[in-house]
Amino acid sequence: MSFSFARQILCAVLTFGIGGAAWADGKATYEKTCAACHSTGVANAPRFGDKVAWAPRLGVGMPTLVSTAIKGKGAMPPRGGSARLKDAEVRAAVEFMVAAAR
Ligand code: HEC
Repeated sequence: MSFSFARQILCAVLTFGIGGAAWADGKATYEKTCAACHSTGVANAPRFGDKVAWAPRLGVGMPTLVSTAIKGKGAMPPRGGSARLKDAEVRAAVEFMVAAAR
């Protein structure tokens, strides 16, 4: 096995590992599913990056925010209306939104 062949295998393994189920792209999920409401504040959704709107929510902690996002709340549908999202994807999107609001 040549060195470059071994490197190709390594790259394939890394790419597959990163693209696998354990990793969810919060930014992509946010842009696809959550931004529809959270970028402009539709139905009083806390706007992306709006520290004032998020401050009281950050206080409840990530586990509660994630389970709220999964179950829905008020005008927010469960999983932002995208029932196919995995829990890990919803969590990653919440993490992405929370990171922008700190
Ligand atoms: C149809 C519009 C809509 C979409 C799409 C949407 N949200 Fe929301 N979201 C809302 C509204 C409205 C609220 C405010 C709910 C309230 O406080 O009563 C909210 C609140 C939240 C909160 C704060 C919950 C809390 O305890 O106050 C989180 C976290 C959240 N959304 C995450 C997400 C994520 C993640 C997505 C995408 C997967 C998403 N939302 C998609 C409308 C939406």
